[in-house]
Amino acid sequence: MTSNKIIEYYNHALIDYKRIWRLDRNLAIHYGYYDSENKTHDKAVVNMNRVLSEIAKITPKDRVLDAGCGIGGSSIWIAKNIGARVTGLNIHKGQLEIARQLAIKNRVENLTEFTEGDFTKTNLQDNSFDVVLGLESVCYAKNKKDFIREARRILKNNGRLVVADGFLQKENLDVKEKEEMKKWLNGWAVPNLSTLNDFKKYLKQLKFTNVKFLDIKKNVMPSSTRMYKASIICYPIGKILEFLGIRNKTQTANIVSAFYQHKTLKKGLWTYGIFYAEKSLS
Ligand SMILES: C[S@@+](CC[C@H](N)C(=O)[O-])C[C@H]1O[C@@H](n2cnc3c(N)ncnc32)[C@H](O)[C@@H]1O
Repeated sequence: MTSNKIIEYYNHALIDYKRIWRLDRNLAIHYGYYDSENKTHDKAVVNMNRVLSEIAKITPKDRVLDAGCGIGGSSIWIAKNIGARVTGLNIHKGQLEIARQLAIKNRVENLTEFTEGDFTKTNLQDNSFDVVLGLESVCYAKNKKDFIREARRILKNNGRLVVADGFLQKENLDVKEKEEMKKWLNGWAVPNLSTLNDFKKYLKQLKFTNVKFLDIKKNVMPSSTRMYKASIICYPIGKILEFLGIRNKTQTANIVSAFYQHKTLKKGLWTYGIFYAEKSLS
């Protein structure tokens, strides 16, 4: 999956994120974290920012990299609610432009900057960040180890890496399961998911310590279900609009993904979780 494919996917899919995910309101291109206090869609997707910030132990003194920042929702939330300085990094110029405007609208332009770049090979300085955060973006790295290596380079000693994403849980998929996973991942331009064990192994090989994994499948399940239900309603309409030339194949595949992400999550082929790890010099 090339960067161009990913950029093209977002060019065509953003309209559905606006309609189905209410992106303009919540600024989130990610699953929500549902808990006893956050039971609605808008609250849950914003709550994910709080959960990750707590796990990353972000303080106002920290410098944070939001790797694969979308339209800047998490960067802006962290700057606004914690007061930390945040750099949002993205390969998608259009999303960065929206993020800059949103930062101004939210009066955090002095604490945030939005930079174009690939999180597996950035121009950022060695040892310059306290926290690297990857919220549903690291899945886009063809080789996840390249992302972890780059995060290690730019993190200060004892810096924290937090990655919230999907991870393969079942390692030996049969033909049908592989096909279902492919329909999901291809439609979202995701090249592959790392297995849980591989991601943990890479962190340890690259000398991260205090590695922890928190499975939050049950907290994100309502988001998965929301997408699944929307896909059932939208698929026939999407097909007709594609036939009429009003929507395109990428947009239909996006709807198909919404269906299969849920089917495969329910089956336990993958899970959603949060990795936490610390950079150590030893
Ligand atoms: C699912 S969205 C998540 C966006 C954001 N973290 C959020 O939660 O709203 C994935 C993002 O990763 C970005 N991305 C994908 N590959 C990237 C790469 N190699 N370097 C930087 N950003 C990347 C995409 O452009 C997109 O903005």
